Amino acid sequence: MSQVRVGLLGIGTVGSGVWRVLQRNADEIARRAGRPIEIVAVADRNVERAQEIVGREAIERGVVVTAEAAAVVARPDVEIVVELIGGTSAAKALVKAAIAAGKHVVTANKALLAEHGGEIFAAAQERGVMVGFEAAVAGGIPIIKALREGLAANRIEWVAGIINGTTNYILTQMQMRGIPFAEALREAQALGYAEADPTLDVEGIDAAHKATLLASLAFGVPIQFERAYVEGISAVEARDIAYADALGYRVKLLAVARRRADGFELRVHPTLIPKEHLLANVNGAMNAVVVKGDAVGQTLYYGAGAGSEPTASAVIADLVEVARLMNATPSQRVPHLAFQPGELVTLPVLPIGACRTSFYLRLQVADEVGVLAQLARVLADEGVSIAAVIQKEDGVAEKGIAELVLLTHESEERRVRSAIARIEQQVWVRGRWAALRVEHLQ
Ligand code: NAP
Ligand code: HSE
Repeated sequence: MSQVRVGLLGIGTVGSGVWRVLQRNADEIARRAGRPIEIVAVADRNVERAQEIVGREAIERGVVVTAEAAAVVARPDVEIVVELIGGTSAAKALVKAAIAAGKHVVTANKALLAEHGGEIFAAAQERGVMVGFEAAVAGGIPIIKALREGLAANRIEWVAGIINGTTNYILTQMQMRGIPFAEALREAQALGYAEADPTLDVEGIDAAHKATLLASLAFGVPIQFERAYVEGISAVEARDIAYADALGYRVKLLAVARRRADGFELRVHPTLIPKEHLLANVNGAMNAVVVKGDAVGQTLYYGAGAGSEPTASAVIADLVEVARLMNATPSQRVPHLAFQPGELVTLPVLPIGACRTSFYLRLQVADEVGVLAQLARVLADEGVSIAAVIQKEDGVAEKGIAELVLLTHESEERRVRSAIARIEQQVWVRGRWAALRVEHLQ
């Protein structure tokens, strides 16, 4: 059978991994796909660097290297366009142009799909082409394949995961080596984990892009990134990581999509997870996702969530799937969002105030008789039940002030917020609060 011809847009961290793995494992991949998969044209702004990666031998063989991504999309010999330039403006125009030209697309671009996926998948459906995006969530972990196919029998109840390698790397290094946030971020960037704009990682936006896609695949709902609740790790303090440790928890940036009767929770935030839970032991740039289905129970997916070849592994898996199915009729293919396009249901994303978790609260108070009782009273008035309280003197420089760390039982977030607002007005409160959610994932 003739080869499948691919146009590669962007040969940076992920693109260069795709190039290398496709060359190295060409025979193995062809045996799986049923035909060879060949990159015939590469576009990258930095043509010199792209030529270096592609190599003289391939260029002499006829592989085109250009700065013009649109020219690669328009080439009549390109059947699949692999978009690895990132961002949402040029990438969107190129992906839409590829679809309009009847070409299949493979992308690792979660920002593009979380923000414009509805439009892109509708266009692909209309044109009868596939859009593969396994690499867009959790790097090399085949979580999209699992949700779309392996778990198809289940009503998915919740999905929770560590799905940003950069922030997990940072939190792990801060905890294990005691290094500052900025140094750990520099290391993550050097290792190729971070987005071009690392605030997307650090502020939780990248994880929210991915969580949005997971929620759609899990519950059969339209993509609703703008409704996700997002909180990053830039405000997490080293002493909260240390206090959490003393209480038996690790702090992780956790993404949660949980189905409830009245809608679903869709949120990303730093979270205390019990040390004995498998997710608490996912370190460095590794990612892990737990899916709870009604029939199967909990299943766990673990692996490299970022980096050149782990992400390339997922991109090439999509290329193999497209190569196998490109001649099938569209109805024989797996739907983009796991459910048939006409079967997506509108389930509202619940506001963060309606979400239910336990809380870790840290505050400084006047070290006086009766303060703890008053604090407990306000929480009780709001229906928030205390699970544990510890008083720390070592974190406080000033005499007469005590630092309190509380764990609450599960409660609606708006009640906790209302209690915090009331406590903040008390004369015995000193300094700033820390409030972090706690998930037991049972
Ligand atoms: P990257 O290293 O910055 O590579 C992107 C490449 O595309 C760069 O060489 C860039 O050139 C080039 N480029 C950008 N805009 C272009 C345009 N309009 N025309 C031609 N070339 C263009 O990024 P990456 O880390 O490989 O990420 C690529 C995509 O994969 C992103 O969507 C990212 O979110 C996703 N992803 C990345 C990882 C990871 O671990 N890195 C994992 C999963 C998913 P310049 O260098 O000159 O800008
Ligand atoms: N910047 C992303 C991360 C890349 O750190 O997880 C993988 O999507």
